[in-house]
Amino acid sequence: MTTTELSPQLDAALAVRWHELNERLADIRRRYPDAALASSLAAEDMLLTHALYAGGSDLEVFTLDTGRLHAETLGVLDAVRERYGREVTVYRPDAGAVERHVAEHGAYAFYESVALRRACCQIRKVAPLKRALAGRGAWITGQRRSQSTTRGELPFEEDDAAFGLYKFNPLAEWDEEEVWSVIRALGIPYNPLHDQGYPSIGCEPCTRAIRPGEDLRAGRWWWESSDSKECGLHAGNRVIPVVARVE
Ligand code: ADX
Ligand code: SF4
Repeated sequence: MTTTELSPQLDAALAVRWHELNERLADIRRRYPDAALASSLAAEDMLLTHALYAGGSDLEVFTLDTGRLHAETLGVLDAVRERYGREVTVYRPDAGAVERHVAEHGAYAFYESVALRRACCQIRKVAPLKRALAGRGAWITGQRRSQSTTRGELPFEEDDAAFGLYKFNPLAEWDEEEVWSVIRALGIPYNPLHDQGYPSIGCEPCTRAIRPGEDLRAGRWWWESSDSKECGLHAGNRVIPVVARVE
């Protein structure tokens, strides 16, 4: 049977991509039965969730509810339940740590400095991620190389020294158009904010819609330089230095 016969809604090139992705996820399952997908509930992660849940994989999908997400993003949890009859596990930050940070620095301290922004991400995202990953052999992300200067060298798989386990980025080489073609062809549920100018979605106060022609992540932490726009979930991502050209 050909890959287009397996996925009749997709054209030949996409059917191959989709087939390879499913093979890759099955390989991850064989090697790490306790691996889990970290889902921000954005487009890439919904595509992966569909591959796992519609494909009958028992790998877990979890999300980090920072307490500052858009209502539309939280609504995706219901869409997943309705469509697949399965839950996304939700991890939340330690309430005491959030309270102390807000009492000391205010509820919008992330606009004041990169250090305070990182502190907030540490409490609301990184610490819960540590809990979500504890005891697992591997995790899976929806990152793509073309999303950001910090992701240009993203490998398909890597040792994640920061969290002490293995990490898979099975969509590393996909481009945005491919992601959306599959989402539309397979009718995968997605965050409605994507149709309102938000290609990349994080916490509500730290994400804005982008204007036509702007970089995909221009709406994330828009008041910071593009080189600092990582929140600590993906510590291995780095800016590749531009080597001076010799004429
Ligand atoms: S971020 O580091 O800037 O926030 P981005 O939104 O591009 O990341 O998402 C990249 C990947 O990080 C997602 O595909 C997902 O695997 C993971 N991720 C980001 N935010 C969350 C979240 N709130 N919960 C779970 N995983 C997340
Ligand atoms: Fe805090 Fe903004 Fe980071 Fe969300 S993205 S955890 S609100 S600094």
